[in-house]
Amino acid sequence: MKFIDLFAGIGGIKTGFEKVGFDCVFSNDFDKNAKITFDLNFSNPMVLGDIQEIKLDDIPNFDVLCGGFPCQPFSIAGYRQGFKDEDGRGNLFFDIVRILKEKKPKAFLLENVKNLKTHDKGHTVKVIFEQLESLGYKVDKDVLNTIKYGNLPQNRERIYIVGFLEQEAFEKFEFPKKIKLTKTIHDCLENKKIDDKYYYNDKPLYEKLKDDVIKKDTVYQWRRKYVRENKSGVCPTLTANMGMGGHNVPIILDSKGIRKLTPRECANFQGFPKSYKLPDIADSHLYKQFGNSVSIPVIKRVAKNIYKALNK
Ligand SMILES: C[S@@+](CC[C@H](N)C(=O)[O-])C[C@H]1O[C@@H](n2cnc3c(N)ncnc32)[C@H](O)[C@@H]1O
Repeated sequence: MKFIDLFAGIGGIKTGFEKVGFDCVFSNDFDKNAKITFDLNFSNPMVLGDIQEIKLDDIPNFDVLCGGFPCQPFSIAGYRQGFKDEDGRGNLFFDIVRILKEKKPKAFLLENVKNLKTHDKGHTVKVIFEQLESLGYKVDKDVLNTIKYGNLPQNRERIYIVGFLEQEAFEKFEFPKKIKLTKTIHDCLENKKIDDKYYYNDKPLYEKLKDDVIKKDTVYQWRRKYVRENKSGVCPTLTANMGMGGHNVPIILDSKGIRKLTPRECANFQGFPKSYKLPDIADSHLYKQFGNSVSIPVIKRVAKNIYKALNK
């Protein structure tokens, strides 16, 4: 069963789908740093380029389309412009439509931020559903939190939209059920000496952190003027803005002091396998890439159910 991975980033969706037996025949993204990480990990290189320039003939035939399309235009943290986004980003959904319309794969999986659901008073998601259904797809959606569906201690709520051409497959598909969270943040922290550059000790922010960052089983965030503690003992949502310098990366206390998570730890909180390699590029790129990516165990569970639904 073949799939394509649009807005592939560093291949989080691809990793989840391949783990349950799907075969990836095409991946695209226009971020050259994501391509460095991607190509280091997969034998089929990513096609680098703007999706709007990708021709239908460039895409081989496939059974499932996957796409974690960019979330900025739909997210409260972003510009709140949705389809009206001036630089055209909001319109990338219509490239998905363009490809589905021509290639008519058996199914698709789209992933986005949770507030796609309420964006523009629900109009955005309504338009998305109308477009997909007008192509003949039966469509369903669910919001899954990594804590509840991925057995990973990261609070990450994402909307998953699935569609099937055949009624029978649609009826057979179900979203994964909740599972118990057994992993703790310590399962995601690196078990080795951490480079000094990640520590705040002796750095100007230390004074502002030291009275609040006091527990070893808690993940904290610096919110411009104050420390926010995650009271449920999990990691807050990893986001692309971790790559924007400053202090956006979640903070912990360990035996050596107060520090930010390393890129590898961010990979762990997203459930990337230990064998996933990190290239020698600036940490800011890696933080952005893992914040932009997906929780692999959740993708894997959704992919497994799509696989089952499509297999007669
Ligand atoms: C939310 S991320 C998806 C990450 C991916 N699911 C992963 O596991 O890493 C969205 C991606 O869309 C890419 N993107 C944004 N606009 C694009 C465009 N016009 N053409 C191709 N890719 C684009 C970004 O570079 C980014 O990697």
